Amino acid sequence: MCGIVGYVGKKNAIPYLIQGLRKLEYRGYDSAGIAYLDNNKIEIKKTVGRISDLEKIVNINIPTNIGIGHTRWATHGKVNNTNSHPHQVGDITIVHNGILENYQELKNELLKLGYKFKTETDTEVLCAYIDYEYKNSSTKDMVEIFNNCFKVFKGSYAVTIMVASISDKIFVMKKDNPLVIGIGESENYIASDVSAFISNTCKFIYLEDMQIGIVSSSDVSIYQENKLINNDIKTINIDDVGNGKEEYEHYMLKEIYEQSNLIEKLNSIYLNSNLDDFDISKYTSIHIIGCGTAYHAGLIGKYLMEKYNDFEINVYIASEYRYQKIFVNDKTLVIAVSQSGETADTLACLKRVKKCGCDTLGIVNVKNSTIARIVDRVIYTMAGQEIAVASTKAYTSQIYIFSLLALKIGISKGVINKEDITSYYNELPQLINNVLNINYDRVVKKIFNNEYLFYLGRNIDYVSVMEGSLKIKEISYIHSEAYQGGELKHGTISLIEKDSCVISLVSNEETSAKIISNIKEVKARGAYVILIIKDSLNINIDINCYDQMIIIPSVHELIQPILNIIPLQLIAYYVAKKRGCDIDKPRNLAKSVTVE
Ligand code: AGP
Repeated sequence: MCGIVGYVGKKNAIPYLIQGLRKLEYRGYDSAGIAYLDNNKIEIKKTVGRISDLEKIVNINIPTNIGIGHTRWATHGKVNNTNSHPHQVGDITIVHNGILENYQELKNELLKLGYKFKTETDTEVLCAYIDYEYKNSSTKDMVEIFNNCFKVFKGSYAVTIMVASISDKIFVMKKDNPLVIGIGESENYIASDVSAFISNTCKFIYLEDMQIGIVSSSDVSIYQENKLINNDIKTINIDDVGNGKEEYEHYMLKEIYEQSNLIEKLNSIYLNSNLDDFDISKYTSIHIIGCGTAYHAGLIGKYLMEKYNDFEINVYIASEYRYQKIFVNDKTLVIAVSQSGETADTLACLKRVKKCGCDTLGIVNVKNSTIARIVDRVIYTMAGQEIAVASTKAYTSQIYIFSLLALKIGISKGVINKEDITSYYNELPQLINNVLNINYDRVVKKIFNNEYLFYLGRNIDYVSVMEGSLKIKEISYIHSEAYQGGELKHGTISLIEKDSCVISLVSNEETSAKIISNIKEVKARGAYVILIIKDSLNINIDINCYDQMIIIPSVHELIQPILNIIPLQLIAYYVAKKRGCDIDKPRNLAKSVTVE
């Protein structure tokens, strides 16, 4: 999603804007631009492409102390220079993250008022409307002007604004999209998230919905409606924010390899406390919501928690859940899973269910993110900043947390005790290393040129292959589909022909014989089968039913999904690498989907 930066202070602004935009590249974008005050005029430089392309058209030595910047992930209008941000109408120059849903209606009104538009964007409309309010304000009171805009704007927006006649202030306003203000020494920063300026300050103010910020080099004033208010200044630990790729070629590979240490860290944080205050005895239903990989983590959570729970746990894709009929009351626990804590659909679901009087729990990675701040309770996954768009370590940390929630349920029902399982958790980091060190070259060589791939699994293994399928789609652009083994005969086996490539995960004991039968069915029809199988499965595998086999260690069923995903992550990574894809920033994708 788009990234926003701003700087006002005693130093030259442009290097800070470029630095901040570079730190936000991981969010995904297709164009970039900055605006800054130069000789009392707000200049704009913007271009399609990367920050490096922007740097070619910017003189970073221009003496200016105030500016804003933007990386655009196109929502309205083609990817071109005209549509990229910043936009300027009259006295107002802005950058925007989000979607102005009623932009067409406002555009029609502004056209009647004589405004002309150069771009296809909703942002230019937003800019023009603010200019309209500014021009028609008798007081030129910016708080009053922005409050008038809040009454009219529909949708989600984080907006950062410069005003031609105000040379020492930057204005911010937001609804349903993140914006933070970094507090420096005689300088202040604005950004979509703290990573932009965490190397310059550890003190940040998180703007809340419908708040207005007025930022100068020496002061930050926050208004809610017309009242000056005090938002807490939070101190952010730089360790919670990534520190480069180190010796890895891509962030994604680094983050895959970090998973071993991450599990060790999670053991030290949570295994002993075991989330003692997590008590679901008062609930009669649990709804887990998330998008993409977070949704898959929720599905794993369902399987794990239902091992010991005595009522069904339902998992929903957030973008569906927010519009479907839902059955939520004060006996429902809604668990929101989100790495970024900013995903618009997941956030919207929480706002919806909170009106139903239920309790909410967040399993979130980014500290102080919007979801982390609005749930009744948050469990942080402590994975550190996840830069690669394709989620890996955040996923394993999410399913780790779910395994402990399941363990907690089992302990409370007296069906499992922690002593039986602690050793499995403690051995997990080394076992992850063992799986990380398996050689996947032969698998990669076989599949990297395929037009499509089939992933096969049953029960909880089906969820793992759904995640594996998503990984390879999003970074290698090979189409793949995950199928439940039992479903093949109901239609999809018609797709299997000679040399169709099928990757199957077999770790779930009670369905292992069944999935092997399914594998034989596809093999009998000419498929090329890659089997990822847990050792110690008490079934004999006919060597004619597969072409390649990857054996992974067996661990307790509560944590087996953590091991199972490692081969699928690495296969996706190395296939994408062999195909020369932009692994950390796949086309069309954003790290945090802050628009619906
Ligand atoms: C995962 O590889 C994807 N990048 C995407 O599906 C992601 O999991 C989804 O957008 C949810 O994001 P969140 O966890 O930040 O809410």
